[in-house]
Amino acid sequence: DAEEELYRPNYHFTPKVGWMNDPNGMFHYNGYYHLYFQHYPDGNKWGPMHWGHAVSTDMVKWKEQPIALYPDDMGYIFSGSAVVDLQNSSGFGKEGQVPIIAMFTYHNMEIEKAEGIDVESQAIAYSLDEGLTWTKYEGNPVIENPGIRDFRDPKVSWDEEHEKWVMVLAAHDKVMFYGSKDLKKWELMSDFGGDMKKDLGTHGGVWECPDLFQMPVAGTNETKWVLYVSVNPGGPNGGSATQYFIGDFDGRKFTIDKGFETVLNKGQKFWIDFGKDNYAGVTFSNIISKNGGKFYMGWMSNWEYANEVPTETWRSAMTVAREVKLIKDAETYRLAFDPVDELDAYKGVKYKKERIAVNGLSALLDSEKVNLSRTAISFSISDVKKDSFTFKLSNKQGDELSFGYNGGDNSFFIDRDTSGKTGFSDRFSNKVSKAKRFSDNGMLSGTILLDKTSIELFFDEGSTVMTEIFFPNAPFETLSIESASEDFVLDFLEVNELNIN
Ligand code: FRU
Repeated sequence: DAEEELYRPNYHFTPKVGWMNDPNGMFHYNGYYHLYFQHYPDGNKWGPMHWGHAVSTDMVKWKEQPIALYPDDMGYIFSGSAVVDLQNSSGFGKEGQVPIIAMFTYHNMEIEKAEGIDVESQAIAYSLDEGLTWTKYEGNPVIENPGIRDFRDPKVSWDEEHEKWVMVLAAHDKVMFYGSKDLKKWELMSDFGGDMKKDLGTHGGVWECPDLFQMPVAGTNETKWVLYVSVNPGGPNGGSATQYFIGDFDGRKFTIDKGFETVLNKGQKFWIDFGKDNYAGVTFSNIISKNGGKFYMGWMSNWEYANEVPTETWRSAMTVAREVKLIKDAETYRLAFDPVDELDAYKGVKYKKERIAVNGLSALLDSEKVNLSRTAISFSISDVKKDSFTFKLSNKQGDELSFGYNGGDNSFFIDRDTSGKTGFSDRFSNKVSKAKRFSDNGMLSGTILLDKTSIELFFDEGSTVMTEIFFPNAPFETLSIESASEDFVLDFLEVNELNIN
């Protein structure tokens, strides 16, 4: 109905019907990107988990496919990953067909009801038609539960340097690393996080959906290993969020980088995204960007209220696909994210303005197109204390979403308190979300992605990202900016309509 269409995004993936959470098994092969996802097709709340499936040629426009994996006697199909087994190391390939291997967690409801702690084990399935249909391995589970209540979300990758399959999974308050030659027999190699001092990394909740990968440090010959760990709760602005660690991996063990550890010890937190709505994201396998980086997508919601958001027939969207970069600044290593270049192909009508003097509230753009757009902005900040600014998105109904930068405490923010429907959860808009600025650059630039019910902010070359969702009573159609200082100038503003239909 109308309400559903009002809220369904345009260039973000949503399931046609039913519930969705984590992205699973993302890989690239033969011209296609594959996205599987935690899915309950028969209801709009979390339920018996399946792997839904969608394919794309550009990570932007997705076409939903039949369900890939159904729950069975061994349990619900929880999160996991997929790899392209180019050498047929698993032996599942027949007549030269390259097998795709998915590794996922079985969550057994019977054991859970009997109050067992061994409810979760790891299993595999293979596809001989490039990810469309799957056969579960008869030898499942391939990793039995070792007596740990939360033991899930295997992320497999090919370790080029040490020539083996490496898998990382979440085990309550730590991650565990396994190795394999054939994707069927797994050897436990090491773990990370559990015996760490409490303040090193966030342990506000259970660890989930890890990822481990190697990538080059931008502008150097160096490579480092990146470890993602989602945590729920414990996020920077409440609820679920994804932290990361930078270090080295010797084929068996992850060691946190000394300099990075020092900065962590000083209390700085490293989050993939500081907004409330980006969780359980991991990277695509079998593809790297032209810069040697990875591609990433997350689930654009938060466990604090994901089951309550005001859509009826479907629930939740993924973030846009993002390119992951690893940079080294004066302090330490840091991840940075950019929307994938492929998004540019959908840029439509353009509004461009330069040197806009802002004093008080100034309307920048009045158009229904604002609702689906990509905006590039840049400012020069002469005095960070003084140069606060607030962007406002509004509609005639009086709903308003504000976001911007506050020089007073040097932080970016999103305030969705008056953005429309907020009453479905008392944790949706009880606080203004904030993210401290790392950069001390006198120039501030950013990209704003708007898609009806979501905003994704990429500041300072993507080193601070904030993603949040909102539910206005009618589409937003005015973009304005407000600044208290008299001589605030917006150097550059370019708004491009983005529409994939
Ligand atoms: C993360 C998560 C995973 C689990 C899945 C179940 O959002 O809790 O740890 O595999 O969701 O749907």
